[in-house]
Parts: sequence; structure tokens; C-alpha cells
Amino acid sequence: MIAWNPSLSIGIQEIDEQHQAIVGLINELEANKDSQDPTVAIDALRFLREYLHGHFDLECELMLDICYPDLESHKQQHELFINHVIFFEIENEFGVVTSVMLSDILAFLNDWFVSHIATEDRKLGAFVRTRAMTK
Ligand SMILES: [Fe+2]
Ligand SMILES: [Fe+2]
Repeated sequence: MIAWNPSLSIGIQEIDEQHQAIVGLINELEANKDSQDPTVAIDALRFLREYLHGHFDLECELMLDICYPDLESHKQQHELFINHVIFFEIENEFGVVTSVMLSDILAFLNDWFVSHIATEDRKLGAFVRTRAMTK
């Protein structure tokens, strides 16, 4: 279980709310991680695909707006994330056991997504604040 905490907040309300939804998904998967029901993993992957496109687009628009210097490397991380979700979808089609699938998705979200929020997205939030102060 992950409790939403200040170290995950980037200080931009709309983005924080979207990150909270991901934390909600992580906690939901955690609660169902021993499930044998294949729809749990399928639903989670569908959610990630649909939700994250909008989320990554929003961050990209913001980065473009403010001429964010690390835009390219940040975008690359998003692409890696999407590719990983596609990889899970392929694994799922090949019938990887649901509980293995769920623990892999959870480990990935915990490692990758949470550290992306806590480092890269927070760096972006800090840049937005500094920029607002110097205006
Ligand atoms: Fe993000
Ligand atoms: Fe990001």
C-alpha cells in the first residue's frame, strides 16, 4: 500500500490528482494481487493505456509551454513506460499466469512510476514554481 504523501506531490493540482489515480490503481492491485481472475490485470492495463496517454500529453503540453530544458529525456521516460505496458499486454495475450502478471505490473508501477513521479515530475513542478517566481 502506498499512502499519498508530500514527497509525491509536484505542486500542480491537476497533475497531482492524476498521479493520485495511479496510486489508487497500485493500491487496488495490491489488494487483489492474489486474484486468479484475469480481468483484474486486463482492466489495469487498459486503465494505464487510456489514462496515461492523457496524463503524458498534459505533462508534455506543460513542458512545451514553459520551454522545459529536459523535455526530451522526460518524454523518453514516458515512452519507455508505454512500451512496458505494451509488453505486459503481449505477455497477457500469451497467457502468462494472472498472479504472476499482477505482481510484475505492481513491481513495475512501484519501481518505475513512483520513482518517476518522485524525481522527474517533481523536478518539472519545481521548474514551474521557479519560473513563476521570476516572472
Ligand atoms: Fe506524471
Ligand atoms: Fe512525467
